[in-house]
Amino acid sequence: MKFTTEQLKEKINEYKKKLSVIVVAHHYQRDEVFEIADITGDSLELAIKTKADNSEFVVFCGVGFMGQSVKVLSPNKRVVMPKAACCAMAKMIDGMQFDASIKALNEAGVPNENILPITYINSNADVKAKVGQMGGMVCTSSNAKKIITTALQEGKKILFVPDRCLGQNIANQMGLKSCVIGDGTNPADADIICFNGFCSVHQLFTVDDINFYRKKYPGILIAVHPECDPAICDASDFVGSTSQLIKFITDLPEDQKVAVGTEFNMVNRLRSKNTYVLSSTKPECPTMNETTLRDVYDVLKSIDEGEPLNEIQIDENTQKWAKIALERMLAL
Ligand code: 13P
Ligand code: SF4
Repeated sequence: MKFTTEQLKEKINEYKKKLSVIVVAHHYQRDEVFEIADITGDSLELAIKTKADNSEFVVFCGVGFMGQSVKVLSPNKRVVMPKAACCAMAKMIDGMQFDASIKALNEAGVPNENILPITYINSNADVKAKVGQMGGMVCTSSNAKKIITTALQEGKKILFVPDRCLGQNIANQMGLKSCVIGDGTNPADADIICFNGFCSVHQLFTVDDINFYRKKYPGILIAVHPECDPAICDASDFVGSTSQLIKFITDLPEDQKVAVGTEFNMVNRLRSKNTYVLSSTKPECPTMNETTLRDVYDVLKSIDEGEPLNEIQIDENTQKWAKIALERMLAL
């Protein structure tokens, strides 16, 4: 049956009143989905805020690793995804590729006892579990520096997966040496050894874009997400997670121009006459955009009918070790 947007919103609100559900949405979701959410935020905030809620069902509007993190932290909750969307970066590494990276380090003369793995939250539960088993932990874009600073106190080398940009950006900020597995340098010489994963959306921003805006609007500020290439972050005025970017931009004086390097939906919601998208190509995350209002309605209907769609299931062992890796982060 076909519904208008207004009818869908009405039906979603009716289900929200009737069922024990909480609707959660990441900042990159489409406007109409973002607007009907009860909880919004960056990856870390969503994991923490959703854990504190008591509803039986979590309707997670975002990508798979985010919904999985909620399930891992709160195994008793039933987490359903309106769309089984998967972050392209998280897909770049699985448990087998993680093991192969460890092997490559061993062959380069770095034994397991000298490696502390850290995984960006943008990874699937099997990778988080591998990291947990090796004594490592998870980080997000909002706490990566703090987590890496603490981890380095163990005197080991950090294997950082999957985002090479975030790993390199933190290394640059802290004056540490980094390398990327397979880049031809010796991992034994680096403090932070990065897996060669990346976000294709954040790769769209270039130094030319920054130069263009700086020339066109002298005095403009450039604010970007740390998934951007190190050359972009180095040339910017502010680097932060999605929520940190929102705070930075909304705290600026009204007449301050700012060009923002992150996903389109979020930047567009912040758009005023002084806020610009730092790219001539629309930086949309295809998988974040997959979830529609209709999908939210369908998943709520499926809960009401007793056969929830796209429910996240994680096997016991993966659940146990991924939880340890996530809780080590939350403890900090
Ligand atoms: P945040 O943790 O900053 O919300 O980022 C998640 C993400 O996927 C960015 O591309
Ligand atoms: Fe993944 Fe990039 Fe999309 Fe973020 S923007 S969810 S890192 S593909």
